[in-house]
Amino acid sequence: MLSHTDNERLAPEVELQYIDTLIDDLDHKHRIQRKIQFLLDIRGYLKVNHILGAYHEYGLYNGHTLYSAHRILQDTITEYCGFDTFTGEPHFTPQESQYSPYLSQGDYACSLTQVSSSLAHINPTLVKGDFRDPKVSQEISLLPQPSVVIIDCNILSSVQSALVTAISNIIPFGILFIDDFFTLRDSESFLLEDILLDVSRSCSRSLSPFMTYPPFSKAFIIH
Ligand SMILES: C[S@@+](CC[C@H](N)C(=O)[O-])C[C@H]1O[C@@H](n2cnc3c(N)ncnc32)[C@H](O)[C@@H]1O
Repeated sequence: MLSHTDNERLAPEVELQYIDTLIDDLDHKHRIQRKIQFLLDIRGYLKVNHILGAYHEYGLYNGHTLYSAHRILQDTITEYCGFDTFTGEPHFTPQESQYSPYLSQGDYACSLTQVSSSLAHINPTLVKGDFRDPKVSQEISLLPQPSVVIIDCNILSSVQSALVTAISNIIPFGILFIDDFFTLRDSESFLLEDILLDVSRSCSRSLSPFMTYPPFSKAFIIH
C-alpha cells in the first residue's frame, strides 16, 4: 500500500492511472451488485442474532438475486420464496408511469418454467400472479414467515401492496430491503418514506434504518 508521501511523489500520469484503476475497481460490475452487497452485509447480523426464517422476494424476474441469497445466506434461511407475474411488469396507471418513465408493461418477463428450471437445485416456492390481487397476497401470507424480504418491483402500487404483506408477516428483527426507495418520488418527496411509516404504524411495527445501498435502495430492520 502506498503511503501519503509515496502518493505525493508519483508522476502525475501515474497518479491518474491509480485513480482510473480505483474507479474501475469500485464501479458497479453487475446490475444486482447492490443486492449482493446487502446479502453479504446481513449474513453476520442474521447469524449472530440467531434470526431464522424464510427469504421472500417480491419481483423475482429471472431469480438471480434469489440464487445469490441461497449462496450467501445458506443455513440462516429455512425456505426460499419468490413472487412474480412471470409475464413481466403488470398494468400500471399513467401517474405511476410518470414516477417510472423508463418502464413499460411486460418489461422483465421471465417465465415460471424458465425460473423453476434455473433454480431447480434450490427448489424455491414460487407464487405466480399479481401480488396486488388480495387472493395472491393471501397465498403469500400463508407461507412460512420471512426473516429477509426484498421488494423490487418498480411500480408504486406493487411496492405498496408488497409492503403491507411483508410488514405484517416478517418476524421481529427481520430485514426488509426496498430497491426503489430513491426512485419513486414526486416534486416534493420520496413517496415510499410516508407509505412505509403508515404501513408500519397500521401493522403496529417499528422500523430502524439499516443501510442505504446506492443508487436507489434502502434496508430497514423491522421489530
Ligand atoms: C426489476 S424486476 C426484479 C428483479 C429481481 N428482483 C432481480 O434482482 O433480479 C421487477 C419484477 O417485478 C415484477 N412485478 C412488478 N409488479 C408486480 C406485481 N404487482 N405482481 C407480481 N410481480 C410484479 C415484474 O414482473 C418484474 O419481474
